[in-house]
Amino acid sequence: MRILLLSHAFNSLCQRLWLELDACGHEISLELDINDVVTRQAVAMWQPQVLVAPFLKRAIPEDIWRALPCLVVHPGPPGDRGPSALDWAIQLGERSWGVTVLQAVAEMDAGPVWAWREFPLRPASKSSVYRREVTEGAVAAVLEALDRIAAGQGPKLAKNTGGGSARPALRQPERAIDWTRHTVDEVLARIRAADGQPGVRDTLAGHPVWLHDAAPAPGLRGPPGEWLGECGEALARGCADGAVWIGHLTIEIEAGKRLKLPARVARAHLGVSPLPMLSDERVPNRARYEVHGHVGVLHFPYGNGALSTARCGELLVAIRTAAEAPERVLLLAGGPEFWCNGLDLATIEAAASPADASLANIEAIDEICLALIELTGKIVVSAMAGNAGAGGVYLALAADEVWVRRGVVLNPHYRNMGNLYGSEYWTYLLPRRIGAEAGERLMATRLPLSAEAAVRSGLCDALVEGDPEAFLAAAVVRAQALAEDPGLAERLVAKARQRAEDESRKPLAEYRREELEKMRLNFYGFDTSYHVARHDFITKVPHSRTPLHLARHRARPRA
Ligand code: COA
Repeated sequence: MRILLLSHAFNSLCQRLWLELDACGHEISLELDINDVVTRQAVAMWQPQVLVAPFLKRAIPEDIWRALPCLVVHPGPPGDRGPSALDWAIQLGERSWGVTVLQAVAEMDAGPVWAWREFPLRPASKSSVYRREVTEGAVAAVLEALDRIAAGQGPKLAKNTGGGSARPALRQPERAIDWTRHTVDEVLARIRAADGQPGVRDTLAGHPVWLHDAAPAPGLRGPPGEWLGECGEALARGCADGAVWIGHLTIEIEAGKRLKLPARVARAHLGVSPLPMLSDERVPNRARYEVHGHVGVLHFPYGNGALSTARCGELLVAIRTAAEAPERVLLLAGGPEFWCNGLDLATIEAAASPADASLANIEAIDEICLALIELTGKIVVSAMAGNAGAGGVYLALAADEVWVRRGVVLNPHYRNMGNLYGSEYWTYLLPRRIGAEAGERLMATRLPLSAEAAVRSGLCDALVEGDPEAFLAAAVVRAQALAEDPGLAERLVAKARQRAEDESRKPLAEYRREELEKMRLNFYGFDTSYHVARHDFITKVPHSRTPLHLARHRARPRA
C-alpha cells in the first residue's frame, strides 16, 4: 500500500511504525503535522491509499479524512476518548489499559474502530508504558487494520463510543500533589502520569519546578512536604506515609526557557543550598553492578538515556571495578527503555559554555569507550533491551558482541543533531563491524534501523525476543554459556592479539584525535548548526519542516 504517516514528531512509535510498514513492503512517506496546507500538499503529492497518524496533537482536516481512510492511534482501549488518555489511566490506577486504531471523523476519537490491543497497566511512567506496551500494541493494531483494509473488510466497531469514558485534558490543578495528605503510592501515580511531559508543577525553596522520574524511598521518613535530602542525582521529599525520590526537575533557567535536568543539577542551578546527603542503592538514574554466576551485569538505567559527564564518571569507575572483578563476561545492560542516547544535551544546554560542556562530555564518553575497547581480560557484551541513538549506538559497538531485543529501534548516526560529526571511536568501530563502504552508507541515511536490519547488516550479532525483562534474563543465560565455553581462554588470547594488531596499524589515540578535531568544529566553529539543533531538540521547538529523507513525496515528486 502507499501510506502517508502524519505525525507531530518522528518519535519512537512513529519510527517503529515506519520500520514495520517498510518491512511489510508498503511504500511510505512522512509529513510532520505542521499545518493543514502542508498536510494537503503531502496528500496531493504522495496520493496515499491510507493515512496513518501515530501521534497527533490536532485534528486532521475534514477534506482529507473524507477523501481517504485516516487511521489514528489512540493510547486507550475502545470507548476511551480524550487528549490525556494514558495520563488519566495512570493517575487513577487503572489495572488494564489499551491502544486503539480509530478512523478520523468530525468528532475527536469517536470514529469507527479498526483494531485494538489490551494490556495490564504496569506501575510505571507514562513514557515507559508508551514506549513499551502502547508501542507494541499500536504496531500490531495498525498492521491488523491495514490487513482489513487490504482485504476489503470494514472496521470492527462502527463507532468508538460507549464502554470507556471521554475525559478532558488532565491539567495541573488535577495533577497537584498534597504532600501532607497523599501517600507514597498516590504521589508516585501522579508523577508517573505526568512523565516525561508535562511533569507535576510544584516548588523547591519557592522556585517553580516540575517533578519527574519518581521512585519510592523505602525506609526514609520525614515531615510531609519537606525536602529531606539528596543522593546521586535525586532529591527526596516526605509525603503522608513515607518519602519519594525525584530524579529530574524541569526548571526555568531563564525567562521563557525551561529545561528538564537531573534534580540535583537543577537544585544547584536554582542556587538552592545542598540538602543532607543520604544513601540509597535504588535511587533513580544510578549505575549498578550485579553478579550472576560468571557474568557481571552493569545496569545504567538513565531515564532519558543521556550520558552526562557526571554519569560517565560513575560509569567509568563501575567499568574499572568490573574489570578487576572475577566475572568472565561483562554484560552492559543500559536501561529498559533506552540503552543510551549519547551526549547529555540537556545539561550541555544548561551550561555556561555549551561548547566547553559538549567537549568535556564527549571526552568523558570517549574514556568509557576506550576502557571497554581495551578491556581484553574478559568478554564484553552490549545487551540492548532499549533503544539507542547517536553516540549511544557506538558505545555499544565498543563491546565484543552486541545483542539486541526485537522491537528496539537504533539511530546509528549523528547528523540529525545539526550535522554533528560524532566520536566514540566510531571511525574505528563501525568499519571493523560492517566495512568502510557500508559504514559510510549507514552514517549518511539518517534513518532509524530496526533490530532485525541491524543484525542482518552485521551491526549487531544476535536478535533476542521478549520484553525488556525477558530479554535481559535470556541475555544473562547466553552470557553464562559464553563464560563457560571451553574456548573462552583461547578467545581472550585472540582478542588481545587482534587489539595489539589494530593498535599497531593505527593507534586508538589517532582515531580519537581525528574525530575530536571535527567535533571541535561542530562545537566552536563558524557553523552553529549543532547548537541550534540541540537547543531546538531540548526545548522542544515545534518543527517547521519535514526533513527530506522522511518526506519522500517531496524528494521524489510523482510523475
Ligand atoms: N540528551 C538529553 N536528553 C535526551 C537525549 C540526549 N542525548 N536523548 C533523548 N533525550 C530526552 C528527550 O528530550 C526526551 O525528554 P522528555 O521526556 O522531557 O520529553 C526523552 O529523553 C525521550 O527522548 P525522545 O526524543 O522523546 O525519544 P524517542 O524515543 O522518541 O527518540 C532519539 C529517540 C534517540 C531519536 C532521540 O531521543 C534523539 O535524537 N536523541 C538525541 C541523540 C543525540 O543526538 N545525541 C547526541 C549526540 S551523541
